[in-house]
Amino acid sequence: METVLCSARVADIKDIHALLLKAADKGRLLPRSLADLYRHTRDFYVLKEQDGRLIGCCALSVVWEDLAEIRSLYVCEEARRHGSGSLLAKACMKEAQAMGVGRLFTLTYETGFFARLGFRETDKDVLPQKIWADCVHCPKFPNNCDETAMLCLL
Ligand SMILES: CC(C)(COP(=O)(O)OP(=O)(O)OC[C@H]1O[C@@H](n2cnc3c(N)ncnc32)[C@H](O)[C@@H]1OP(=O)(O)O)[C@@H](O)C(=O)NCCC(=O)NCCS
Repeated sequence: METVLCSARVADIKDIHALLLKAADKGRLLPRSLADLYRHTRDFYVLKEQDGRLIGCCALSVVWEDLAEIRSLYVCEEARRHGSGSLLAKACMKEAQAMGVGRLFTLTYETGFFARLGFRETDKDVLPQKIWADCVHCPKFPNNCDETAMLCLL
């Protein structure tokens, strides 16, 4: 299957929103509002089929000096296990490195996937900027968060 990896355009946001809603329904990712996604259009990479259908997305979000996050990584089920997730995550890793970010983290259920990309499990306490900016607004905060924090030194 031929796919194209590119930076998201505003016209992609409704499709990204629909993709992330699917993941949220399955409890794999937190849902994000359209307003939030439009504000963060420049964070996103998208993967499309030749006919333009969106099959995956991933965002790189700068959190602090020397700290960024990979978030909203999703590949639609029928397109998985062909390297698409790795392609999207690696695009974010490369950009973070190019920006001079030294530490990249993610909160995830997919620990094996991220371990293969060089991420290692870490304590959420080493990510205070994430906790106080985002996690405090999450319905699972503080006692019911079941995601694993993983960190990669770039
Ligand atoms: C995690 C996720 C993005 C991975 O997407 P993907 O496109 O399947 O990723 P890849 O194909 O790069 O790698 C997935 C697996 O397929 C394997 N794989 C890659 N190319 C392959 C190929 N050509 N043939 C067979 N297997 C292959 C990889 O080794 C990897 O193995 P693993 O399952 O043991 O980790 C996807 O499962 C997903 O969207 N999950 C739900 C949302 C989620 O949990 N996101 C992460 C939160 S941050």
